[in-house]
Amino acid sequence: MGGPKILIKRDDMTGIALGGNKARKAEFLIGAAKAEGATVMMTTAGVNSNYLRIMAAAARIAGIRPILFMRGTGQEPLQGNLLLDAIVGAELVFIDVTDPWSPEAYQIMEEHANRLKSQGEKSCIISVQTTHAPLASLGYVLAAFELHQQLLDRNISANYIFTPVGSGVTQAGLVLGAKLLNWDLHVVGMAGTPGTAQDHRERISDMVERAAALLDKDIHVQTEEIIVDDAYAGESYGKPTPEVIEAILQVGKAEGIILDPVYSGKNMCGMIDWIKKGKLTSKDTAIFLHTGGTPSLFTQAESLGKSIQQHREHHR
Ligand SMILES: Cc1ncc(COP(=O)(O)O)c(C=O)c1O
Repeated sequence: MGGPKILIKRDDMTGIALGGNKARKAEFLIGAAKAEGATVMMTTAGVNSNYLRIMAAAARIAGIRPILFMRGTGQEPLQGNLLLDAIVGAELVFIDVTDPWSPEAYQIMEEHANRLKSQGEKSCIISVQTTHAPLASLGYVLAAFELHQQLLDRNISANYIFTPVGSGVTQAGLVLGAKLLNWDLHVVGMAGTPGTAQDHRERISDMVERAAALLDKDIHVQTEEIIVDDAYAGESYGKPTPEVIEAILQVGKAEGIILDPVYSGKNMCGMIDWIKKGKLTSKDTAIFLHTGGTPSLFTQAESLGKSIQQHREHHR
């Protein structure tokens, strides 16, 4: 791109049930459920959630029964992550909740857990957005350490990393990891939802402090220190802009690497634009964190197919 050196950290290949950034979180979250002696793991997210897919698979690996509480109608086609959830035998409960931050889903899970208790089951309810967020982010503290070592081994110093932002757990872990390593790394978060940058900054700075406390470290970060850009999120969550589709095609063609329309495509689109705008130059080295999410390509196959067709006709 005529700008910085760019490296891609392939966290789309973390391994559990087609991989992605959630595998690193699941290591700690399912670990916590196991440590509590849970026989059942309950958690909640949207229907086509990469998080739910990986949590269900990780629970299976640990011998724990996964029950997923999905914000959805139950009429959604069995495609993408939902299909994979079914393959790993997750129990699916569809809930009439639309707001991802509403406490309602937790009340429903509590009631369900109480019912299962009488059958001798011990449930662990995981809230990756609130209570368990700092614990989950430790997966990305370790990722920062791993990355730091990989760069040292290759004699490369990098000063930027680009990550998508959903819950902010990944970014919080990277920020804390970099702080613990005294690594002067700009951790740039590309938000998947428009108008969320300030909320993310506040939540992430708080999460960094709470995660540091789990490690007995007293670390404070200012909200302004957290870099989040929501300019590439398009009109809504999950919906890619033409520039995001362009970025997906560009990376597919150049590298044979598959990005998704919900998170990694928006992240790539943002990084490309930052480079175009000269925010990074040939003096910088950037790491693109590929967080996975490829199953979403298939839930959006129809609309993506149309866009790709139009793109091809336009460039013919
Ligand atoms: C593929 C993918 N990338 C990035 C993210 C964002 O990660 P986080 O929730 O840690 O901000 C998510 C989930 O939200 C995801 O599924």
